Amino acid sequence: MAANKKLLVLPGDGIGPEATRQVMRVVDWFDKHRALRFDVSDGLVGGAAYDAHRVPLTDETLADALSADAVLFGAVGGPDWDDLPFELRPERGLLRLRKEMQLYANLRPAMVFPAMAEASSLKPDLVRGLDIMIVRELTGGIYFGEPRGIEELPDGTRRGVNTQVYTTPEIQRVARVAFELAKKRDNRVCSVEKSNVMESGQLWREEVQALRDAEYPEVELSHMYADNCAMQLVRQPKQFDVIVTDNLFGDLLSDAAAMLTGSLGMLPSASIGDPDESGFRRGLYEPVHGSAPDIAGQDQANPMAMLLSFAMLLRYSFDLGEEAALIEQAAENVLASGMRTADIMQPGLAKVSTTVMGDSLLRELDKLAT
Ligand code: IPM
Ligand code: MG
Repeated sequence: MAANKKLLVLPGDGIGPEATRQVMRVVDWFDKHRALRFDVSDGLVGGAAYDAHRVPLTDETLADALSADAVLFGAVGGPDWDDLPFELRPERGLLRLRKEMQLYANLRPAMVFPAMAEASSLKPDLVRGLDIMIVRELTGGIYFGEPRGIEELPDGTRRGVNTQVYTTPEIQRVARVAFELAKKRDNRVCSVEKSNVMESGQLWREEVQALRDAEYPEVELSHMYADNCAMQLVRQPKQFDVIVTDNLFGDLLSDAAAMLTGSLGMLPSASIGDPDESGFRRGLYEPVHGSAPDIAGQDQANPMAMLLSFAMLLRYSFDLGEEAALIEQAAENVLASGMRTADIMQPGLAKVSTTVMGDSLLRELDKLAT
């Protein structure tokens, strides 16, 4: 019998734990109804880890993440830890995980469920049926580039420095992920940078084009400046299929794209690295939303992004596409039934709690399974 899949759960801070709890109920459901069993362990990350261990990620938890088959991550950060020195901030825990696990490609789908078109801040026609995949570079660029830091100048003023830097292999490997995804979708990639003002952007454009010409002639490739892309995302979002971009632009553009779908509370993400010799890809799965400290602990958070992140985990780490689709369909049915957490509430629909949203999802899974 094959060994159970090892799943490390890192709920983190704010609404992370309550959203994660709903996923654990789905894990139990698969165990009972599909004999799909995970060895689940959990750990602390972010502010929670800082409170217990004085660091946002311990070496032990990192080792657990490296030996797990997949990591499910909640959210980190909150006002309690805002005054910590940079290296101890909750966010550093997440960044260290991404870097050490070498998760260089972050997949952020922006999809509008049919029932959610009215919840977008854009006109429903502009977003109905929207299905974009943003592929964000995740272990390079200005997030990690050296030199970095804040220094005192002789005249008593200070200077803050961060470095945007990319190499050919870093660009090619993330572009390859984008091209491979495009082939399974609408076969179009839009590469986004600022080659009009940044050399690293010029390199980005040239390397993506060269890779396309050499290995993916069948994929349609276009290029766009990041500022224009931000504008196009709110003007005509359905023009995009796959967008590939660097770490910082990807951070910004994925938040913008997320909002097209009605709420940050809806969007999952997958961070993946290279497959090992046996073809297995290490992955970390997290909702795009943050820790939302203002509503933490109140059973109000939208658990959908977290649940859909678990669906991505099943699909990308374990090749369980059917099970993933089951969760996605159940989520769609819950929304179609008119249940809404506060973030996506609309007049005339039923405002429900995190737990009730989880209850309904389980009920829909039951229905789909019979
Ligand atoms: C994200 C977040 C993170 C980032 C933070 C929490 C470090 O905004 O995943 O988009 O900037 O990458
Ligand atoms: Mg972000």
